[in-house]
Amino acid sequence: MARAHTFDRITARPLALLTTLWLLGGAAVAEDDPGAQIAREGNDRGATACIQCHGEQGQGQAQPPFPRLAGLPKSYLVEQMTAYREGQRPNATMAQIAQHLDDDEIEAVSRHYAEMKPAGGPHRVPEDLVEKGREIALEGLPERNIQSCASCHGEQGRERNPSLPPLAGHPPRYLMAQLQAYAQGARKTALAGLMQGIAQELEEEEMAAVSAYFASIPAREE
Ligand code: HEC
Ligand code: HEC
Repeated sequence: MARAHTFDRITARPLALLTTLWLLGGAAVAEDDPGAQIAREGNDRGATACIQCHGEQGQGQAQPPFPRLAGLPKSYLVEQMTAYREGQRPNATMAQIAQHLDDDEIEAVSRHYAEMKPAGGPHRVPEDLVEKGREIALEGLPERNIQSCASCHGEQGRERNPSLPPLAGHPPRYLMAQLQAYAQGARKTALAGLMQGIAQELEEEEMAAVSAYFASIPAREE
């Protein structure tokens, strides 16, 4: 009896210690990463939790289109969040949220999403559109002096230059809406001019085709 008792005490100790460490570890992660906390819970000044719309993995959602955030470059994310807050990128939903985030929170939540593994897509889109879109994406439209999308965004739309958003795995309707916004001059961030000239040259059908092409590619290489 006495021996069994001793045995219990010896094994129970390290177990209790492990449990304590595990609990402390969990709490430490949440506190150390304010960006992850904003993503999961929002903040107490009225910013909504990002995952409600952008998904648990930051993968976005096809309908209504919510863009992917996971694996977008940090400085691009900071730029866009600031633009929603200050009005250079008009969108009522995101403006309302960004207006309740200060610079440090924007920095933190942007770092969080930039460090996540790319996620999103592939989306289901008509194959004939994808084919047409692939041609424009890879070759451009030389007869109309339109550069290939690949020259900046990469052939798979996975290029991750600091100011250059990857396009792979975004919902098709999100991509389409952005091309229309550039064409109308509605997005006014510092580098939006690069896209405005290109988008203004594209017919609606061509916008739908390139959007289908990039949406058909998963954000992350399998
Ligand atoms: C109620 C739904 C909703 C919530 C909650 C939400 N978003 Fe969004 N978000 C959207 C929509 C819709 C868009 C597309 C807006 C547009 O067309 O410009 C968007 C776009 C974005 C973009 C632009 C992505 C790109 O590729 O340019 C970023 C960055 C972003 N959201 C970050 C966040 C962050 C960070 C949070 C949490 C603090 C958040 N969002 C919470 C709906 C939401
Ligand atoms: C000269 C380089 C360049 C070329 C070529 C280019 N892009 Fe872009 N693209 C950019 C930059 C830079 C941005 C970010 C601009 C900003 O801050 O709004 C961007 C942004 C975008 C966005 C918005 C992404 C998001 O997450 O909201 C879409 C969609 C897009 N490009 C599609 C295309 C398509 C389709 C083509 C080919 C027809 C193309 N781009 C060609 C540089 C380029």
